[in-house]
Formats: sequence, structure tokens, C-alpha cells
Amino acid sequence: MRTDGSRSRKLSQHYVDLWLRANPGGTVTTRDLAADPIPHIDMTSFSANLVAPEDRTPEQQAARALTDELVGEVLAADVIVLGSGLYNFGPPSTVKAWFDHLVVPGVTLGPDGGTLGDKQLVLTLANGGGYGPGSPKEGWDHRTPWLAHAFEQLGLTDVEVYTAELTLSRESPAMIPLDLGDAEDASFAAAIAAMEERFAGVTV
Ligand SMILES: Cc1cc2nc3c(=O)[nH]c(=O)nc-3n(C[C@H](O)[C@H](O)[C@H](O)COP(=O)(O)O)c2cc1C
Repeated sequence: MRTDGSRSRKLSQHYVDLWLRANPGGTVTTRDLAADPIPHIDMTSFSANLVAPEDRTPEQQAARALTDELVGEVLAADVIVLGSGLYNFGPPSTVKAWFDHLVVPGVTLGPDGGTLGDKQLVLTLANGGGYGPGSPKEGWDHRTPWLAHAFEQLGLTDVEVYTAELTLSRESPAMIPLDLGDAEDASFAAAIAAMEERFAGVTV
């Protein structure tokens, strides 16, 4: 949602920069789901996927055009880098609205299962709190497993995850007294270091 101070945007950009160093000449398509939100799927767009193209109403044709644009971006990609905060223990609704357009019988869902098996998903995530092993809210981050599960349904199983936690440690009145600023910085630095390790020495 935010641009200034967004940790997930910083992580996404860093991953893309590293990827471009490793893949000179590669192309990057950017879609900002916060600045340009995707309309929620509705009966028109859902039903457009269930009828033959020649039987679609003008409204269904218009709805399907958006779906085709979004699906086309994903089908054209080798790597999908998805940056996201954690909102009320789940994905932002903008991410959910986008994903709902990607599930298209005959396109991303074939007769033998999902069709995105040749792609890689990179999740660059930010959490205001901490959800690691042993933390009081361990298991409350439902966004990360949901994203992996939802894309797995479309055949995509190659998933990398980079997460910066405790991003509200200096902003939330409830967290400021916990003095977790150093832990926040360490979490972000660890996510960046893991990316750089992934690209084995490529630096930006
Ligand atoms: C509407 C809203 C709900 C949020 N809910 C949670 C939450 O349930 N758990 C959490 O750890 N952080 C929560 N946060 C904090 C964000 O996940 C955190 O600020 C994160 O860094 C946002 O991503 P960004 O840094 O890329 O903007 C919420 C923030 C907003 C705006």
C-alpha cells in the first residue's frame, strides 16, 4: 500500500536488481497492485471464464480482457516476484483480487492440473510483527502459506521466500516499548543477505 518506507518494495527491487545482473538483457514487467488496484472478481468476470468466447456478452468480453492481460503477464514470465505486506494476518486484498483473476480453466488450470510449472515464484514479504518459531504469534502469518498453496494449485512449486519482520517496531505504539529496532534491522539485513547468497556473489 505505502511507497515511502515500504520494506517489501525494497526487497522486491533488490531481488529484481540482482536478477538483472545475473540475466543481462532480461526484461522486467512491473504491476503495482496498490497504485492500480485490480477490481474484485465478480459474477461477470467469473462466468466469462466458463463460456465459449463466441457466447460471451459484451460485459463478459470486457471482463475477460482484463483477465487475459493479467494472466498474459504471468504466462510471459519466467520469474514472478511478488512483494507484499501482511494485513490482518493474511494477504492484502489487492493481492487476493489479483490472484482471483489468475485462476482460469483452460488457461492456468488445464485438464491435468496447473500450467505454471515452468515458473518460479519469489515472495518478498514484510511483516509488522514477528511470526518466527517460538514467537507468541507463530503460525498467524496465513499469507505466506496461502500464497504458496494457491500458486501450487496452478502448478507452480518452485518458491523462494524472503521476509523482513518487525517492521512496525519503531512505528507502532504497542511495539516501541519492546525496543526491537535492532531486531528489525537484523531481519531486513538477513533477507537481503539471503538474496545475495542466492545469486552467489552478484552484488548491486
Ligand atoms: C491494514 C494493515 C493491516 C496490517 N496487519 C498486520 C498484521 O496482521 N500483522 C503484522 O505483522 N503486520 C500488519 N501490518 C503491518 C504491515 O504488514 C507492515 O507495515 C509491513 O511492513 C507492510 O509492508 P511494507 O513495508 O511493504 O509497506 C498491517 C498494516 C496495515 C496497513
